[in-house]
Amino acid sequence: MSQNQSEVKKQIEKRRTFAIISHPDAGKTTLTEKFLLYGGAINQAGSVKGKATARHAVSDWMEIEKERGISVTSSVLQFNYGGYCINILDTPGHQDFSEDTYRTLMAADSAVMVIDASKGVEAQTRKLFKVCTMRHIPIFTFINKMDREAMDTFELLEDIETELGIATCPVNWPIGSGKEFRGVYDRTGKKVELFSDTRKGTIQGEVKKLPLSSPELSGLISEGQREKLEEEIELLDGAGEEFSQELVSRGELSPVFFGSALTNFGVETFLQHFLLMTTPPLPRMSDKGWIDPAKEEAFSAFVFKIQANMNKAHRDRIAFMRICSGSFEAGMEVFHMQGGKKVRLSQPQQLMASERKMIEKAYGGDIIGVFDPGIFSIGDTLTTAGEKFSYEGIPTFAPEHFARVRQVDTMKRKQFIKGINQIAQEGAIQIFQEFNTGMEEIIVGVVGVLQFDVLKYRLENEYNVEIRMDSLPYEYIRWIDNADIDVGKITGTSDMKRVKDLKGRPLLLFVNEWSIRMTQERNDGLVLTEFAR
Ligand code: G4P
Repeated sequence: MSQNQSEVKKQIEKRRTFAIISHPDAGKTTLTEKFLLYGGAINQAGSVKGKATARHAVSDWMEIEKERGISVTSSVLQFNYGGYCINILDTPGHQDFSEDTYRTLMAADSAVMVIDASKGVEAQTRKLFKVCTMRHIPIFTFINKMDREAMDTFELLEDIETELGIATCPVNWPIGSGKEFRGVYDRTGKKVELFSDTRKGTIQGEVKKLPLSSPELSGLISEGQREKLEEEIELLDGAGEEFSQELVSRGELSPVFFGSALTNFGVETFLQHFLLMTTPPLPRMSDKGWIDPAKEEAFSAFVFKIQANMNKAHRDRIAFMRICSGSFEAGMEVFHMQGGKKVRLSQPQQLMASERKMIEKAYGGDIIGVFDPGIFSIGDTLTTAGEKFSYEGIPTFAPEHFARVRQVDTMKRKQFIKGINQIAQEGAIQIFQEFNTGMEEIIVGVVGVLQFDVLKYRLENEYNVEIRMDSLPYEYIRWIDNADIDVGKITGTSDMKRVKDLKGRPLLLFVNEWSIRMTQERNDGLVLTEFAR
């Protein structure tokens, strides 16, 4: 192995690329900010937060964002900590939840699920969690806001197990909650970790680690807390799931940590344990079998997100790709599998804390954004490998909001069709047609309602087409997985609608879950799926 190759290998092994998933307000931004503080990437709280200010600098690319003070796009943050090079993929929440949020998870090697201790599992977490389980990637749980009144700890774990169907294994256990929150008990080290409260935003002060038997403890936690802790630990050791790295790696067991991102309780402990348990860049499936970054020396990457018109003056598009193997150098020539030709990857960018910067070099596990002259699509593979291969495509995720869309000026039909098709190709929206008719009626489906505004804005601004949207009552869409089925003969409910997607695949639209169940009951052998590959 050449010196260069061993350097690339070393760099890849250092990479830890993960996504943070949570329901809005559970504390994802606060936790990310604390990670960055530990990594020394920022030195002041508020650099990541402050959705109205700092985030704008990151993705200030559309008027909608400015008007609403939200970020339509997700970003990637890179920093170093403890000898690791960490890439955090941000999954946008709130109304800006979109297919990109799901796709970002396709680029991660593991996920950290942040849960609000007073609320337990919430809707958005449930949705994102499904994508993680589909990929069998490791999932870590950080139960946040322990400095507030929390649900009972055992109840929280049960909630995760029943709501998400994953076994849990607490790595540490909280001592008190709310004003009484003192710290956590580390089950492996068998030590109580007590954190001194810190001013908001600074790195935590001293962490005291004491065995449960230590006399010093009595002045720090109440007698009642010590007794309760002893009881709970005994219960847990006797009845809880044992830790198994193998199950964690397969995504079947979630290690659970407790803390408070805001007051910095348990954050660094979590980060340290997490880095030991999570995975370096994982092998990925291709049409030539698994491509393992530890073995494949050539550069390879796949596009998971395309962001158009980030800079209005230039009408540019940036293709975000996850590097899966080898290394990348600015301006390098790679083979674009789907385009069938070589392309030069120019203007590579990476996000460091809240700044976008040009990069010279990147490695397997990293995410880069490159200038896209309009040739890339979501899921495309780029590689320098002699024996070429394509990575498995990114599934299409089921939209949850639908509208019938028409252009206002009938003379502009051509621009309208062109624009809406291009936007659909970028993956910002999905378009469907009536099953039996032609292009006349266009139904747009989106994962997050904000995408409707994005569509309207972009059609007006980029294609000069005004549109009318009539929202439809459907909330569920299912692809039909049976190869030989007469779609017209499916006996559905009266509110069911038959449509087809851009690839001509048949789908069914439903108003509620009851209709899906009824349709399934009435049609023996009918296979309906939520993701389309
Ligand atoms: P998100 O990215 O998941 O949407 O959540 P974010 O970090 O923005 O946190 C949402 C709110 O919860 C913020 O309060 C934040 O300060 C608070 N928070 C986060 N972690 C903790 C925690 O461990 N304990 C407590 N008590 N609160 C926490 P906010 O009032 O909306 O914003 P701000 O005024 O603090 O900026």
